[in-house]
Amino acid sequence: CALGGDSAARPRPLVIAHRGASGYRPEHTLAGYALAIEMGADLIEPDLQRSRDGVLVAMHDDTLQRTTDATERYPARNGAWRVADFDFAELRRLRVRPTGSATTGGLAADDPALRIPSFDEVAELARAAPRPVGLYPELKPADEAMVGLLVAALRRHGLARQADGQVHVQSFHDGALRAFVVAQRAAGLAATPVLLGTPGRSADGRLQLRVAGGRWLALDALDPAVQGLGVAIAQRTLPLDAAWVSGAQARGLRLHGWTFAQADPTLAAAEYARFLAMGLDGLFSNYPDLAVAAVARR
Ligand code: G3P
Ligand code: CA
Repeated sequence: CALGGDSAARPRPLVIAHRGASGYRPEHTLAGYALAIEMGADLIEPDLQRSRDGVLVAMHDDTLQRTTDATERYPARNGAWRVADFDFAELRRLRVRPTGSATTGGLAADDPALRIPSFDEVAELARAAPRPVGLYPELKPADEAMVGLLVAALRRHGLARQADGQVHVQSFHDGALRAFVVAQRAAGLAATPVLLGTPGRSADGRLQLRVAGGRWLALDALDPAVQGLGVAIAQRTLPLDAAWVSGAQARGLRLHGWTFAQADPTLAAAEYARFLAMGLDGLFSNYPDLAVAAVARR
């Protein structure tokens, strides 16, 4: 074990498949989530957008051009191709294309596993896994309708009935996360709320997090319902360090770092070792196999 301090006392860090196994398969596809499950990820991460007819779909961007063939399939469509301007049936006709280092892994371009999945399908895939696999949805649009749709979906799937960490809900929007907490309490749910942001320190050295809108929130003044922080690991100034991690953990917060995107196994191993030594509780990784191996080595 390369770690010092109280690492042995902490639970094993979680491997969170960022947008699926998105370094290998097109992000936010059932093909990518299935591979992440095969590779041993503890949780799979869908960013959430919603269709015009109110279906939650797994997608990062609020527009379709980067990851799908929308401009070819719907050439005249508003010129903007916003997810929220398309009904789910229309979104389903699109093909999700590989970006970055991802490939289709031999699947035909029109394979159903390369279509935009609904959140329901992602939840069903996790449920059908041969071992417990958690869900880590992110509220991208930060409005009441999104919160309502997510709570309804969790209820529909019988998820988050216990505070067992199998469902984490994340957002860069502290207001949306708060609204989620209120709504899930009313629904009798207990997903783990995680606030996303960039770690930093105030001029007088207090720990703080930069959230949506560029606002800095002091960790000491966070909503007590927040149970974890999803923190950027890559930044030029005020990088994450062991003191920041332990300071946040001393305030009862779990620390999950994003995004581990190094494909080279040797370079990735060094990066994981460095951040695991700081005591991170979870790793958002595009290459879940490399993260699983790093956690096993720690
Ligand atoms: O949710 C953690 C991380 O995924 C945030 O960045 O832009 O990939 O959603 P993004
Ligand atoms: Ca995300």
